[in-house]
Amino acid sequence: METETILVTGANGQIGTVLTEELRRRYGASAVLSTDIRHSGNNNILFEELDVMYKDRLAVLIKKYGVSQIYHLAAILSAKGEQNPKWAWEINMAGLFNILEVAREFNLRVFFPSSIAVFGGMTPRVNTPQYAVLQPETVYGISKVAGENWCQYFHQKYGVDVRSVRYPGIIGYQSLPGGGTTDYAVEIFHSAVKGETFECFLEPDSRLPMMYMADAIRATLELMEAPGEDVKIRSSYNLAGTNFTPAEVVREIQKHIPEFKATYKPDFRQQIAASWPESIDDGHAREDWGWAPEFGLPEITADMLAHLREYYQATIS
Ligand code: SER
Repeated sequence: METETILVTGANGQIGTVLTEELRRRYGASAVLSTDIRHSGNNNILFEELDVMYKDRLAVLIKKYGVSQIYHLAAILSAKGEQNPKWAWEINMAGLFNILEVAREFNLRVFFPSSIAVFGGMTPRVNTPQYAVLQPETVYGISKVAGENWCQYFHQKYGVDVRSVRYPGIIGYQSLPGGGTTDYAVEIFHSAVKGETFECFLEPDSRLPMMYMADAIRATLELMEAPGEDVKIRSSYNLAGTNFTPAEVVREIQKHIPEFKATYKPDFRQQIAASWPESIDDGHAREDWGWAPEFGLPEITADMLAHLREYYQATIS
C-alpha cells in the first residue's frame, strides 16, 4: 500500500467516528488527520479544528501535514437541513467546493458521500436504478445532486480523482447519527436495550434502504482503494445493503427481547422518507469494483443488541 496522509472532515460524526478508526488501523495512526468543527475530546488522536467553509485554513492543514487524500464527511443531513435550508445549502455546497478546489490544486484523491436523498417522488421506488430521475424534495438531497455533478465536473475537466457512493441509512452501535431521516433505525436499538418503549417518527410500513456500519466502511474503503480505471462513475454510485420497515425491525428485535414494544408518531420526516426509494439497484458498484454487502436485518439486529448490551452494562457498572 502506498503511503497516504488522509484528512477526514466531519470526523466526529456518525460515519467519521468509525471510519477514522479503521483508517488508522490500516494506514497507521500518524497518517490520519481527524478534523471537525469542534474538538472530539480525544487527545490521543491527530486532530485539528476545521470549519470546511474556510478554504485557506484547509490549504494550511494540507500543506502542514502533506495530505494526499480527503474524506469529506462534514455535512448537514436531511431532517436538520429542512429546519434551515439556506444554511444547509451553504455548508453542504461551499464545503464541497472548497474540498474540490484544494483537491485540484494539491492533486488529492477525494471521497464524497452522496445519499439516497438524491432521489424524489418522481423516481421509481423499488430497485431504484443508477440513472433515474433526480428531483429531490429536501435541501440536503438538492445539495447532494449538485455535489455529485460538481464531482463529475472536476473529474472530467481537471482530472480530480473523486469517488462517491450514495449511502443508504447507516446503522451502527459505535456512534449516533445526527439530524437524518433514517436515524430511527439506530435509536430503536438503544431503546430496546434500555428496556424502553420506542416512539417511532416514521410509519410502521415505511420501507427504506439501510446498511450496517461495517458494510458502509468496507464499501467506502474498497471504492477508495480500487484502481482508478475501475471507477467508471465519477458522479456517485448507487450502493445497497439491505432494506426494511420499522415494523420489521421491531419484529426482529422481539426475537431477542420479546417484551419490546414500539409506538408510532410520524412527523415531518415521514414525508421525506416517503419520497425516498424502498430499495436500490447497485449493479454498477458490484460490476465495477466488486461490491457485495454482508449484513441483512437479522445479522444487524444480533450485532447491534450484543454491542449495545455490552456498552450499557459497562456504563451502569
Ligand atoms: N441518513 C441520511 C439522512 O437520513 C440519508 O443520507 O439524512
